[in-house]
Amino acid sequence: MDFSIKTIDAKSASTAYKAVKTACIVVGVFENKKLSAAAANLDKQGVIAAALKSGDISGKPGSSLLLRNVAETAAERVLLVGLGEAADTVSEKAFQQAAQAAARSLANLGANDVVIALPEVKDRDISWSVRTTVLAFRESTFRTDGLKSKKDTATTGVKKIAIAVNATQAATAKTALSQSEAMANGMDLTKELGNLPPNICTPTYLATTARKIATDYKMVAEILDRKQIQALKMGSFLSVTNGTVEPPKFIVLKHNGGKVKDAPIVLVGKGITFDSGGISLKPGAGMDEMKYDMGGSASVLGTMRAIGEMNLKLNVIAIIPTCENMPSGSATRPGDIVTSMSGQTIEILNTDAEGRLILCDALTYAERFKPAAVIDVATLTGACVTALGHHNSGLFTRHDDAHDKLAAELLAAGKQTGDTAWRMPIEEAYNEQLKSNFADMANIGGPAGGSITAACFLERFTRKYTWAHLDIAGTAWKSGAAKGSTGRPVPLLTTFLINRAA
Ligand code: BES
Ligand code: MN
Ligand code: ZN
Repeated sequence: MDFSIKTIDAKSASTAYKAVKTACIVVGVFENKKLSAAAANLDKQGVIAAALKSGDISGKPGSSLLLRNVAETAAERVLLVGLGEAADTVSEKAFQQAAQAAARSLANLGANDVVIALPEVKDRDISWSVRTTVLAFRESTFRTDGLKSKKDTATTGVKKIAIAVNATQAATAKTALSQSEAMANGMDLTKELGNLPPNICTPTYLATTARKIATDYKMVAEILDRKQIQALKMGSFLSVTNGTVEPPKFIVLKHNGGKVKDAPIVLVGKGITFDSGGISLKPGAGMDEMKYDMGGSASVLGTMRAIGEMNLKLNVIAIIPTCENMPSGSATRPGDIVTSMSGQTIEILNTDAEGRLILCDALTYAERFKPAAVIDVATLTGACVTALGHHNSGLFTRHDDAHDKLAAELLAAGKQTGDTAWRMPIEEAYNEQLKSNFADMANIGGPAGGSITAACFLERFTRKYTWAHLDIAGTAWKSGAAKGSTGRPVPLLTTFLINRAA
């Protein structure tokens, strides 16, 4: 899929769309039978107005209608897409649905090249429109049949997609386009890793993927094996690997895009390639979905790929502790007490609360980079899904000025891309739930406020820097008929980093 920016000269805008030579031009129409400027421009003979009037297309967001041989237009086809209520600018949701409808309608059409000429979006710049268009088209052609011996019927999608902008927007649009394609490529990597089965996507596989990103984008990858992890005294991380024969890995991937002296942003991703629960075994139903328990690490790798392709001028370090959580005769027992790299001891009351056990040592390791900020990303708790559903990732930080600022940046990056997060509290009162009679803390805080006590646990390992935690248990993948990785929160993270680099 080959995207480009096509400049439509504002001076000749009243005739420009008619003259666009393409297999298909995509224009918007509204519910009250009004035409967008571009649609009106094509409609010298009133065919489009007639289609609206007759009700062939409702104009509702998501509706579409394909016309051929519209008189006096150079395009072979005109695809009308609904934009909702008429206004000078359209709503975010309507634009996104229109872009998705266009992608869907064009997927199996003979048209090889299309020009998208949609109106501007209320309170959003051209970068937003470009990104939304690119992500909608790329989402529509993402395939999950890589391991099927007979491939699904192909929806190849359109080969060439040009996005029409006016001359004043062209430079911004071009930058946005290359960033959006990089973001889509990053999301594809995240989705592919997430969807891969746990017998293929092992810690070793994630390490190989990190090495490949390093080679492709001139980054530095360092992969620590069990011996090196032992030397670092990561007793908490290692306790999770006790029940499996699959070797653990500790992945460090560095993108040195900024100045040498600039403090890096560190991204830490939970990389449990399969979470059976360990001795605290999970129930059988739906357990296959715990292959997605490496979603944090997949999104961190996807984000690194995206910023590598963008050649982002920022220092970013990815840290990924990765292993399986399995039961066996050598597995960690409920009641075991382990010593983390920080020296703090942990009573493991439930071996299924393993994400925090691998993350805490990675968070301690992050100290050595004197980071500007550390953001960990994890499919950490079912409780977060109960709290926020599948719409928002949970965002946790301490509550002081520096952290309020970081939280605001992350929330804004989420809003900007529709990859939203919702802030949750971290307070002393919740911390008390982690009390243990025998160790510095327990690894679970009881059934109440489970996503918060998990965040409180992590917080104890992050006191030396500014830190945020994203619980993506509800947003990293979809269940049911549409089962599959979403690629979230790559848009949020990538946009946060782009904003930081600006
Ligand atoms: N990976 C799971 C969290 C999870 C569960 C994410 C379901 C998405 C859907 C995590 O390791 C886990 O098992 N957490 C436990 C914690 C509990 C034992 C305190 C949970 O959420 O049940
Ligand atoms: Mn678990
Ligand atoms: Zn888990």
